[in-house]
Amino acid sequence: MSQSFVGKSFITLLDFSKEEIYTLLSLSKRLKEEKQNGIKNRQLEGKNVVLLFEKDSTRTRCAFEVGAYDLGMQVTYLGPTGSQMGKKESIKDTARVLGRMYDGIEYRGFKQETVEILRDYSNVPVWNGLTDKYHPTQILADFLTIQEHLGHLEGVKFTYFGDARNNMGNSLMIGSAIMGLHFTGCAPKTLWPETELIEKCVELAANSGGSITFTEDPYMGSKDADVVYTDVWVSMGEPEEVWNERIKLLLPYQVNATAMKNTSSRSIFMHCLPAFHNLETSMGKSIYEKYQLEGLEVTEDVFESSKSVVFDEAENRLHTIKAVMYATLGGKI
Ligand code: CP
Ligand code: NVA
Repeated sequence: MSQSFVGKSFITLLDFSKEEIYTLLSLSKRLKEEKQNGIKNRQLEGKNVVLLFEKDSTRTRCAFEVGAYDLGMQVTYLGPTGSQMGKKESIKDTARVLGRMYDGIEYRGFKQETVEILRDYSNVPVWNGLTDKYHPTQILADFLTIQEHLGHLEGVKFTYFGDARNNMGNSLMIGSAIMGLHFTGCAPKTLWPETELIEKCVELAANSGGSITFTEDPYMGSKDADVVYTDVWVSMGEPEEVWNERIKLLLPYQVNATAMKNTSSRSIFMHCLPAFHNLETSMGKSIYEKYQLEGLEVTEDVFESSKSVVFDEAENRLHTIKAVMYATLGGKI
């Protein structure tokens, strides 16, 4: 089983089977337990990885850095400025240069096409740390968290509220379809994913025992849900001007006490973070001055409630990203 991961890139969950995703989740669990018990695992000692970030990050960057260090690797971070990539040097050439120096490449940025070019030309594993289209490493952390809190993935009633066609909406739908969750996208029709991707996921869900549903009705969306998931209403890279329209469209889909009351008795609240749930951020404050909303996609009471597992999710970014590097760089599974 371990052989199938070596040298492979992690670009979209569509490239992986249910069994492979289960293997990565149990590896994550094992690496988490090892770390908690102070057992060192430095099987990747001597390897070097480079992290390319065209967009900001807290969790993803730190998870790749700490994960790599834990495994004995060295890390280079290249931010939005300071390298030639995309400005004086094409992505294709950058891929061929970095592939000669590094054992693995992480990329966070705009176009999915960029991470695919890096994969196609670098000759080393490439890991997608978020593009406008997908955020696959986040889904591994989310699914590990669901396993920890609800005990299983198959049959879980999962509802995603908000911008259902952003990187998180797309990737959660794909992951649910592969793993057999009952996924509901609860959003205005204009923010549903592309029809082609929905059709692909409906097909995958038919094989896994899951299902894919969309509704514009927040009552139907929250009804008996086991997992209520949301994400920011405006994603990185989108222009400031869309806030106005997005708030109008998505306010009915805010995750608040009314929505949570309608969920199953064992329900949990999830968010990939960062989240707008109070006025403790500069962006949160400036949105408040314009729209008088203290919370946006989620209210403070839900975010801070006992149903909220957002910091477990955040921690699990480390263990799952470490598992992806470990498996694709030849660690013993
Ligand atoms: N969830 C997530 O990807 O967070 P960062 O933007 O902080 O990496
Ligand atoms: N949809 C969000 C996810 C952040 C982790 C964004 O792209 O900004």
